[in-house]
Amino acid sequence: MIPGMRDQAAFRLDGRVAAVIGAGSGIGEAVAEACAGQGARVACFDADEPRARAVAERIGVAGGAAESGCLDLRDRAAVDAALDALRARHGRLDIAVCTPSINVRKPVLAYSEEEVDRVLSLNLKGNFNLLRAAGRIMTAQRSGAIVLFSSIRGVVVEPGQSVYAATKAGIVQMARAAAAEFGPHGVRVNAVAPGVVDTPLTAQVKADKQWYDAYAAKSILGRWARPEEIAGPTVFLVSDAASYITGAVLFVDGGWTAVDGRFTPPGM
Ligand SMILES: NC(=O)c1ccc[n+]([C@@H]2O[C@H](COP(=O)([O-])OP(=O)(O)OC[C@H]3O[C@@H](n4cnc5c(N)ncnc54)[C@H](O)[C@@H]3O)[C@@H](O)[C@H]2O)c1
Repeated sequence: MIPGMRDQAAFRLDGRVAAVIGAGSGIGEAVAEACAGQGARVACFDADEPRARAVAERIGVAGGAAESGCLDLRDRAAVDAALDALRARHGRLDIAVCTPSINVRKPVLAYSEEEVDRVLSLNLKGNFNLLRAAGRIMTAQRSGAIVLFSSIRGVVVEPGQSVYAATKAGIVQMARAAAAEFGPHGVRVNAVAPGVVDTPLTAQVKADKQWYDAYAAKSILGRWARPEEIAGPTVFLVSDAASYITGAVLFVDGGWTAVDGRFTPPGM
């Protein structure tokens, strides 16, 4: 049995150094706070630097250890430099969680080339930049855990999700391939696939009550998730409690993908 598995210790992140990219908003913000709450020193990175700084400051006020930095995930050199500097400052990099993605909800026939490039360059290339930068440091260190963000849209779709859904399936495959490559060097890589979560990313949906309620009704639990409900499973995946989990996709979707949600037979 892994030390601490009988108690809370395996779920704790004391002494770990974590990079959370996308920490300025939504799920990344909740993940940064949860990692700090479990004892990690958290570097909050985001393209929106003031928001990342505000999250780091809030963690500090709550008694946690955090710092912040401006980072554009699409800039390979900047991603490499940010993680190298973090490792140099603290001597290690144990955890990397990457949340940024965008969605342009549009029919295939209405998509412009610029929109296709914009979604691909952040969701696929940006996440790949992080995977490569963290993987290089962690495989040399011979330990570490990485979590990328997929979605229920990686497996089920609706009209308007073409490019986003393709990137969310692509992120799963890049996480699996990295898990296969990094595993022999002691590094685990997993993906989290949320259902609908109340964050700025889904503000367009929330603004339309019919759309919002329809999504709530699609899951078994009959409601949207709060960002903290995605943070818990993410912290689990980067902790020692998940030491035998790699190359996995953890659906945190209130049961959305377990049922087709169309009809409950009479008497059931
Ligand atoms: N919210 C949902 O319902 C939902 C559902 C399924 C999957 N997801 C996935 O979860 C992840 C997080 O979603 P969220 O709802 O927290 O999103 P969000 O929009 O609330 O937060 C994303 C953060 O990424 C930052 N960001 C954007 N571009 C960046 C860049 N180039 N470099 C660095 N940072 C950048 C933004 O400033 C923002 O702080 C995404 O990958 C999304 O696809 C979300």
